[in-house]
Formats: sequence, C-alpha cells, structure tokens
Amino acid sequence: MHFADRMTPIKPSATLAVTAKAKQMAADGLDVVGFGAGEPDFDTPAFIVDALRSALDNGKTRYTPTAGVPALRDAIAAMFTELYKVPFERAEVMTTVGGKHALYNMFQVLVNPGDEVIIPAPYWVSYPAQVRLAQGTPVHVQCDASEGFTLDVDVVRAAVTDRTVGLVLNSPCNPTGACLSEETLGALADLAEERDFWIISDDIYSFLRYDADGAAATALRARPHLRHRIFIVHGASKTYAMTGWRIGFAGGPAELISKMGTLQGQATSNPTAFAQYGALAALQSDHAFLGEWMKQYDARRRRLTALLNDIDGVECLLPGGAFYVFPDISKILERRFRGEVIGTDLRFSQLLLEHALVAVVPGEPFGGAGHCRLSYAISMQDIDKGMARMKTFIDGLQR
Ligand SMILES: Cc1ncc(COP(=O)(O)O)c(C=O)c1O
Repeated sequence: MHFADRMTPIKPSATLAVTAKAKQMAADGLDVVGFGAGEPDFDTPAFIVDALRSALDNGKTRYTPTAGVPALRDAIAAMFTELYKVPFERAEVMTTVGGKHALYNMFQVLVNPGDEVIIPAPYWVSYPAQVRLAQGTPVHVQCDASEGFTLDVDVVRAAVTDRTVGLVLNSPCNPTGACLSEETLGALADLAEERDFWIISDDIYSFLRYDADGAAATALRARPHLRHRIFIVHGASKTYAMTGWRIGFAGGPAELISKMGTLQGQATSNPTAFAQYGALAALQSDHAFLGEWMKQYDARRRRLTALLNDIDGVECLLPGGAFYVFPDISKILERRFRGEVIGTDLRFSQLLLEHALVAVVPGEPFGGAGHCRLSYAISMQDIDKGMARMKTFIDGLQR
C-alpha cells in the first residue's frame, strides 16, 4: 500500500506504545506497575461531569461555533488574563480537540516547507512529529541535565537561522518536570523579538507546580509587551484530570487564532459540544480540588525521587512541576542482564517490563538517551511496589 511521503518520518508515539503494552500485560492477568501514563490518576471532579450531563439534558448536542461556545471562549480568556496578567479577549483564544490539536493547527498555520522550529531536548515526543507533518525541520538544542535541565540562551541563539520560525518552550516540562526561570524565559522572548520568530509556549502543566509562586514563570508573564509573538497552548487535560474529554485551549494574536479557526473549520469543526460545557464548569470553579491533588502529587514526587536515588546507579533530580521524573540511568546501561549488555534505555525498559513487571518510558524518543520517564500519577502504594521491584531488578544485574 502506498502512503503519502509526509508520513514516512512519523512514528507511533513511544509513550502510548509502552502504556499499551503494559495495559495488555495487565489484561493478560499480570500484576504490572505502570509508570508510563501521561495523565492524572484522579477522576474528573463530579461537578464537571454533572455539567456535561446537564448540557446533554439541555440538548447541547449540535454543532457549536468552530472555535467553541462563546461562554467557554470568554472563560478561557478570563483564565489567561488572570494567569498571564495580560488582558485577553474572546477573539484571542479558541477551543481545540486537546492541547495537541492546538499545537497541530498552529504548526500547520505558521510553518512553511523547510522552515525551522527550535525544540529544546528533552522534549515531548509530538513536537518534532508535528513540525515534520507541517514539512518543517525540527532543530534540537540540548538542555543541561547536570544543571537541572536548564536552557542556555546562548545555545538557543547559536541555533537560530534565517529559517527559524519558532521556539517551543514547555515549562514545567514533559518529560523532565523541570521549570525554566523567569529570567531565561524573558531572555528567550527577547531573542525571539530580536530575530523575529514565534515563542510557542506550551503551558499545559502551568498549574502543576510545587514552588510558592505557582504559575508565575511563563514567557508571556515575563514579557507581556511581546504578546504579539507568543502563542499559548493550554487545556483541560492535565489540570482538571480531563484527558479523555479532548478539550484544549489556544491563545495568541487574533489574526493567528482566526487563521487556526479557518483550518479547524475545514478539518474537525468544533470540539465535542457537551464536553465544552464540562470545561466551562471547570474553568469557572474555585479549583479547590487542585490544592488537594497537588499535596498528593508533591508527596509522591518526593517519595519517588528519594526511592530512585536509593538505587545504586540511578540519579534523579527533584522536578519542579508536572507529574514526571526523568532519572539518569546511563550507568546501568553498562551492566548485563543474563550476560547481555543492556546498552540502551529502550532495552532497559523492555527488560524491566518483561522481567520485573514495571513499565517506564525510555528517554531516547524524548531526546533524552540514557534516561527514562516515570509518571507519579499513580498511588503511593504502587510507587513503593514498583520501586522495590526496580531496585531488585537493577541490583541483580551483572557488572
Ligand atoms: C507537553 C504537553 N503538551 C501538550 C499535551 C497535550 O495534551 P492534550 O492534547 O491532552 O490536551 C501533552 C500531553 O501529554 C503534553 O505532555
């Protein structure tokens, strides 16, 4: 069968692949501890589900405006205004089928064949794939793992060319959980202004931060006067445990949002009508549930990091946000399992899953070879069980 050339470099998402295999093993009756999932383990709060039910009861089952119902757009604008301390209007925001779709639309609208998008590594796996689907070229710059995955502005500067159209910033970051400082974000926005490219600010984890000043550090908050070149990705998935609802938020100059709406109007039309009403209830709530969730995430984050560092050969930084840790396992890759040198993080995660029933995601597809990603959106009990198994597995390897 022949497929379009644009699909040639596109691979299935590594994160989904591990989760699928772990789920299959669990379905086959095996007691797998899964650190693979990129979604909260909490249920969507009941009041949000109730809002969807009542939308259905009230006949909200038809097409809505492509960019979302006006009340939801206004609620997104209000949330952005509060979060970024910059006034947003309805025309400057839209609803999409998840944050992933917001990014997809934006790359399709902004990237010409051969244009370059700078993506700091480690990165979320969909950025390079989406840039390639827009026939652009992903250009990777490395974050400094030894410094807590910080990004050096001069390293980014050196990667800028005449073809650069955007720089992706994701803080807190998937997969590392690292947060960039306000100073770095501001300096990168200044560079974008100087060299005329977009800042693509993926702030989907901005409410999941463990430092005192919460969501303060974002490119837009650091440089409000540069809002004309900052594109915002956000959504309901991670903040409200609504991953399956597929509701994302996009923000940016009205002209860009309008162009994305034109594309969306020809591709998917509106996100599911009644799901939009759930998202509206979520945005209009007092977010009280989030404080309780953050306490639990925080306790798990500390425990998981400590248990990982307790394993000889594993080094793990305490992340500042999201619900992932990204330990360095490079020393373990030199060891042997039943005579075979492990070699790669991919092989390590296969062996760990098959022989210790622990699912982690290899770091290489995230541009972080020698690492693996573990999500702590699982119970404390499972964290303890999974770490005990991982320690036994690693301690049993031959040197
Ligand atoms: C960094 C990052 N951005 C965006 C998304 C998109 O999330 P969704 O499409 O569920 O809103 C994800 C999901 O894993 C993510 O990790």
